[in-house]
Amino acid sequence: IFNQGNTADRTGLIVANAGTLNDGTPITHGIPVVGASYDDGVALSQAGSTAHVFVPAPESRPQKNVIAEKTGVNDDNVVMAGAHLDSVEAGPGINDNGSGSASLLEIAQNLSKLQPQNTIRLAWWAAEEDGLLGSEAYVAGLSQEEKDRIALYLNFDMVASPNHIFMVYDGDESGWDAPAGVPIPEGSVQIEDLFESYFTWAGVPYDDAQFSGRSDYQAFIENDIPAGGLFTGAEVVKTPEQEAIWGGVAGESYDQCYHQACDTIDNVNVAALDVNIDAIALAVLAYSYSTESVNG
Ligand code: PHE
Ligand code: ZN
Ligand code: ZN
Ligand code: ZN
Repeated sequence: IFNQGNTADRTGLIVANAGTLNDGTPITHGIPVVGASYDDGVALSQAGSTAHVFVPAPESRPQKNVIAEKTGVNDDNVVMAGAHLDSVEAGPGINDNGSGSASLLEIAQNLSKLQPQNTIRLAWWAAEEDGLLGSEAYVAGLSQEEKDRIALYLNFDMVASPNHIFMVYDGDESGWDAPAGVPIPEGSVQIEDLFESYFTWAGVPYDDAQFSGRSDYQAFIENDIPAGGLFTGAEVVKTPEQEAIWGGVAGESYDQCYHQACDTIDNVNVAALDVNIDAIALAVLAYSYSTESVNG
């Protein structure tokens, strides 16, 4: 255990900075730790007990977005698709978000076969898990003219969850009582429609995913760029009704390894990935020919 001079008081309240206990338990300033035990095995609530709290020294770790573009006949109309390339520190992040990243890579490898009408720009975002930093920095760095060139943005974050359901971002907020924090740009519902028509054609049931502000589409919708995408679920628990529709296990999360060390190559549902990657390819291909259904 590392001692940087921080201690806990006798009432069991951490009085120092945020950090991690030696068993990996995250702690924050002021959280009660009564009942937790430490290297000496003594509960903090016991009189006279102390704990030494590991507070990592501040450091900066630069991350970079990776952007790849295939120039179209009409370079003034850009179709963007993105997936975050980073993971949480706790694990390798194969469903979150190797699944979306690999899907875009598959698209990229096939783009050589295409002479698209519209420019296709693929983004592998940095530092999503630290607060959408890569995508927000990217959009913030665009001039209004550059933003205006982007016809739409497609987001792929967690598209192969082991206990998945298939979800399409809800471009008209029809599925929700409480609206998202920002108005959803016009045109987003047409993107939703395209994905839904694919699932209907494939005979695969789907549901809405709310634009909750939790992934890289956020910077785009805040800038009134139509957005859409796919999602197969994170920490939310599958209901019996959903089990009846999609199979899997009710009472368990869509991804039991969400943000954990066990988000490994064994944590992807390959059949779900296969369905979604076809949907992604269809959407990128369709919009590379025309975005008229979205932008008029
Ligand atoms: N963006 C979340 C993550 O990377 C995943 C997520 C997306 C959760 C959409 C909820 C809704 O951890
Ligand atoms: Zn995540
Ligand atoms: Zn993610
Ligand atoms: Zn909808």
